[in-house]
Amino acid sequence: MQRQNSFKYESQRLASWYFTVAVILFGAQLLLGLVAAVQFIYPSFLYDVLDFSVARMIHINALVVWMVYAIIGSVYYLLPEETGIETVGIGIAKILFWVLTIAVAIVVLVFLFIQIGPAKTSTIWFINEGREYLEAPRWADIGIVVVVVGFVVNTFLTAIKGRRTGVITVILADLIALAGLYLAGMFYTDNIAMDQYWWWWVIHLWVEATWEVLVGAFAAYALIKIVGAKRQIVEMWLWIEVAMLFGSGILGLGHHYFWIGTPEYWWEIGALFSSLEPVPLIGMFVHVLYDWGKDKGERMGEGEEDVTSNNTPALVWLVINGFGNFLGAGVWGFFHTLPQVNIYTHGTQFTAAHGHLAFFGAYATILIAMFYMAIQGKNGIKKLRATFASKMAIFLLSFGMLGMTVALTIAGYEQVMIERAQLGGTWSAYFVAQNEVWMAQAMDWRFFMGIVMTIGFIYLVKDLWTIGRNPQNVY
Ligand code: HEM
Ligand code: HEM
Ligand SMILES: [Fe+2]
Repeated sequence: MQRQNSFKYESQRLASWYFTVAVILFGAQLLLGLVAAVQFIYPSFLYDVLDFSVARMIHINALVVWMVYAIIGSVYYLLPEETGIETVGIGIAKILFWVLTIAVAIVVLVFLFIQIGPAKTSTIWFINEGREYLEAPRWADIGIVVVVVGFVVNTFLTAIKGRRTGVITVILADLIALAGLYLAGMFYTDNIAMDQYWWWWVIHLWVEATWEVLVGAFAAYALIKIVGAKRQIVEMWLWIEVAMLFGSGILGLGHHYFWIGTPEYWWEIGALFSSLEPVPLIGMFVHVLYDWGKDKGERMGEGEEDVTSNNTPALVWLVINGFGNFLGAGVWGFFHTLPQVNIYTHGTQFTAAHGHLAFFGAYATILIAMFYMAIQGKNGIKKLRATFASKMAIFLLSFGMLGMTVALTIAGYEQVMIERAQLGGTWSAYFVAQNEVWMAQAMDWRFFMGIVMTIGFIYLVKDLWTIGRNPQNVY
């Protein structure tokens, strides 16, 4: 087979730029996570140089930003293939990529070297806005909005001109919600309860509604591409998932309104709707496995000999996504979503266990699958086989994350029992629980599992760098 060694569309080349920055930021996220994990064990580590609060802040902001990059990249990647035409306004799109990347680089440098400012409005504008996960200063917020509006407009113009598939229609509708919600985290009030109220619109409604819908659309696209799943079936699932995700996810927001000073009726609303949230996640899980199996069976029935996927690493990451989304978001989310439980678990390491497994399982996995799709497209590979490095990356990243989740869950359980149930959740109880042996051991294990993940990440980078060039994998 003739190798093309280049993308068919400029939009896909742009996607590969977004993916490259995403991988770099993913690496930065892990590095800063390790620093924060060491500081749990040796609190004086890098004291006054890179304090825990700063390391943690960069860890979780890099997380959000790499995922936003990989999401934009994924849309630019699949857009020309779904619509059948080159992305409209691709020149502007490339300029916007550089604007965003320069803005992100400046924000990271300011976070690293200036870190904090005086309690003045200028700090909000130029250093740090102080909202967990969305700490970028106001000037960068405005830049992000401009870039994202450009991205949404490009996507729309392309969809209007080209073919509009179900996948594209869902993505279009979703991007409006995604971009619009970001605005809710941009204005400032002096009242902390009100500030948190709006902040959760971005945080919860992004990850539990709009991002989940995107993941559904990416999975649908990937299944059509790599196992040749039937579009009607995959898109039917997608519409059902969209209806369910928005149905439970929007009012499921209530599970963050239990203790921030909002009216008590949020207890019932949050309990009911957020408990329903795992249901669409089961649907997504079944969707991937069912389509894969059904399709394989049908093709075998028709006498086709080669019924394997045409991109093994992407398919494996997609299947892990089905499991991970269900476990991390569905099961670990459900554990603490009832107010009767949450009053004990709120803000413990239990929350961190859920946050890690959910972000990894629901998003990191499928975005890595999209990286592999891009490698396949770039090199014009008909069938991409998993290499040793692909397998090591899959195993070490997933096993490390599971191990970390277990360690954090044990730490959370210890906090619930000792800090909350026995000692009544006072400030001094917090410190008693922090010094318990179960907590100390869990923090050691978390660090160890972080190292395991980091080695897995190194394999992933090596694989992404080399897999497409190795003729053995191209056939
Ligand atoms: C992929 C989807 C999800 C992601 C990425 C995610 C991530 C997170 C993160 C990072 C936090 C911590 C926020 C903070 O810093 O305060 C959190 C909190 C929480 N999540 Fe999720 N989550 C997801 C889905 C779900 C689902 C489906 C449920 C319920 C069924 C759920 C229930 C909760 C609850 C109750 C909290 C509050 C914990 C507390 O009170 O400390 N999450 N989630
Ligand atoms: C080398 C691997 C990693 C290490 C050592 C690590 C370590 C940490 C540490 C120490 C914190 C602060 C926890 C606290 O405030 O008590 C944290 C927070 C967080 N990390 Fe990681 N992390 C790693 C990888 C990841 C990955 C891969 C993801 C997501 C895909 C992730 C998502 C998060 C989130 C969402 C939070 C905030 C959790 C919350 O507020 O509940 N981390 N991490
Ligand atoms: Fe939530």
